[in-house]
Amino acid sequence: MDRAEFREQLLEIMEAKEHWAWPMFTSGGVARSALHVHFEQEYATYVRDFPVFVGWAYVQCPIPAVRRELAENLYEEETGGLVAGRPHPELFLEYPRGLGMDMSRFDHIQLLPGATRYRAALDRLVQQSGWQVAASVTTIFIEGTQYDRGELDRDAPRRPAPPLEEHPLVVHYGLSVDHLALTRAHRQVEGEHRRAAWHVVLDHVGADARPRVTAAMREALDMWQLYRDDVAHACGLQRP
Ligand SMILES: [Fe+2]
Repeated sequence: MDRAEFREQLLEIMEAKEHWAWPMFTSGGVARSALHVHFEQEYATYVRDFPVFVGWAYVQCPIPAVRRELAENLYEEETGGLVAGRPHPELFLEYPRGLGMDMSRFDHIQLLPGATRYRAALDRLVQQSGWQVAASVTTIFIEGTQYDRGELDRDAPRRPAPPLEEHPLVVHYGLSVDHLALTRAHRQVEGEHRRAAWHVVLDHVGADARPRVTAAMREALDMWQLYRDDVAHACGLQRP
């Protein structure tokens, strides 16, 4: 698999990272009383431990230039020391806190079955599959969106970034924009982070590792879909 084919396969995987229930989450279609399920499951599957996932990629990687990119990402995620001012997992909790949720729930989250399987797959992919898979799954799949092509190609649609006052949590659930600190921080670093992540994977993952990386990314996508199905059902949503 050459670099161009590798790039295209990864971009197609990212373009498939969309879920039938998401428009219901962003249009107020989820009952306020069920919304905590979404935040809890997101927090425990990847948000809380995202800096550690990046760390797994870091310790397995023999290439100093890649380690430096990963170290910078790890530092910002774990401390907020470059941009956000606070650890990103802590800033994530500002969403449920701002919505008045019972924050003690986040100390003992029970993962849904699909969430347990997604998390187990992520742990295996980041810990036991080499730095190429670990870096791709964390910095491309988990951090990325269906709009990643827009970060690389000038002509592709970019990720929409409406004013914070129009954020779905503000419009439909009355969240104060003060609690969107993580959204604000991500907007500041996102473009840079997305391009750095793609640069690392496309320029440093050798031809021998590319099939393993695309297989791991497809597995992550499949497990993510099943995970999001479980969250949607637990929030009372049915597939249209
Ligand atoms: Fe982050």
